Parts: sequence; C-alpha cells; structure tokens
Amino acid sequence: MRRLIVAANWKLQKNPQESRSFVIEFMASLGQPKCEIVIFPQALSAFAVAESLKGEVKWGGQNSYHESSGAFTGENSAQVLKTMGASYVLIGHSERRKLFGESDDLLSKKIVSAQKIGLTPMFCVGEDISEREAGRTQIVISEQLKKGLAAADFSKPLAIAYEPVWAIGTGKVATPEQAEEAHAYLRAVLKSISGSSVSMETPMLYGGSVKAENASSLIKKNNIDGFLVGGASLEAKSFAAIVEACKK
Ligand code: PGA
Repeated sequence: MRRLIVAANWKLQKNPQESRSFVIEFMASLGQPKCEIVIFPQALSAFAVAESLKGEVKWGGQNSYHESSGAFTGENSAQVLKTMGASYVLIGHSERRKLFGESDDLLSKKIVSAQKIGLTPMFCVGEDISEREAGRTQIVISEQLKKGLAAADFSKPLAIAYEPVWAIGTGKVATPEQAEEAHAYLRAVLKSISGSSVSMETPMLYGGSVKAENASSLIKKNNIDGFLVGGASLEAKSFAAIVEACKK
C-alpha cells in the first residue's frame, strides 16, 4: 500500500514563537498516526520548527530556488533547507504560479535541483474554476504534470498534490468523486511518463478546503493518499483531527 501523508501548508503565517507553540500543542494532541506528517512553515520560521520537532514529524520548505547559491537576492536555497533538516519542498503551489508568475519551465528546474539535493518535491497541480467549467480540467492538470516533471528523476522520491484552485481557501471542497477522478487521471499520466511502479508508489495528496469533517470521506478513495492542508492546519487541534482521519 502507498504511504499516506498529511501536510500543513502554513503559507505566510506563524512567526517563530507561534510555530514553536504550535509544535508543542500538536505533538501533545497527536495519537498514533497512521500517516507521515509534514509541516511547511514560512522560511523565517523554519529554524524554530526544525529545532522543536521531535520524533517522526517532518518539515519542508514552501519554496526553493533551482540554484543553491549565488546572486539571487531574496531566494531560498534547497541546499540550506536540506542542511537544516528539511525532508520536503513544495513546488508549484498555485499561489506561486499565479501571484509570483512561476512558469512550468522554472518549476521543472526547481524539481530537478530539489531531487539532486535530496529533498522530496511535493509538486502541486490544479485547474482554476474557468478551466473546470470549460471542461479543460484533464488537459490543464496533465500539461502541468508533464511539463513540471519533464526532467524529474523517477528513481528518487516524489509526491504530487492535486489542488483545484477553486477549492483553495474557499470552503468549497472537491467531492470525493471529483478528487478521485482527477487523482486517477493524474496517476495514469504519471504512469505514461515514468513507468508503472513509480505511478503506483507516488503518494498523491488532495488539497483545497480540507477539514476533519471532509477528510474521512476523501481518504476512502483509492487514489487519494493524504492531504495538503492550508487553513485547517493553523490550529494544532484541527490539524491533529485531520491526521487522525487519515487512515485507510
Ligand atoms: P486550504 O489551502 O486548505 O486553506 O484550502 C490549501 C493549500 O493552499 O495548500
């Protein structure tokens, strides 16, 4: 069975002190998780998260540049994330694509460099509402997947997150059927570019208005291997409740 992952995307929230308090409260409310847990803090709180996390909980960067060092003012180095103990890096979140203009070509380079350094990219894809309403969901997500993974090393770990843009931060979660349809399709596309064992082993997370109340029905679907959670990951108890719901 594929491993399950529940990840917290804190976006531009939580200063170092708030991050430490979260970790303490979260670890105390955690039962016996049946999934891997990952926290994505903003870069300036990464050290606080790294030093307060204990045990099995992992963390990652919300972004990393494809060059490890040099004249790239304001960027984050994948190499430094790795040195600080990060396991993952989010690549291609819709906010990076839309607000910061990150292209498929740039995302592809970021995936290559993260994998080389030994970080697992959690690569995000998803259609917006006009694309869904125009019946273009499959075209959009398969293009994002193929272009982003054009130079990926399939012998190294990878995770995918399907996050329909219309569901992010809106309270409009995809139905389990809508999410499963997209995940099954993405898995078929991944199989066509990487080979079957990679597509079967790669965890595919759903993201977009996930809460404890909708997590249990989503996780029952065959191709849904966990969640990337924004708003509901900001409180330790609600994030712990989603972790609790994440079992097959
Ligand atoms: P949300 O965000 O859970 O607040 O919808 C998810 C994400 O952006 O990763």
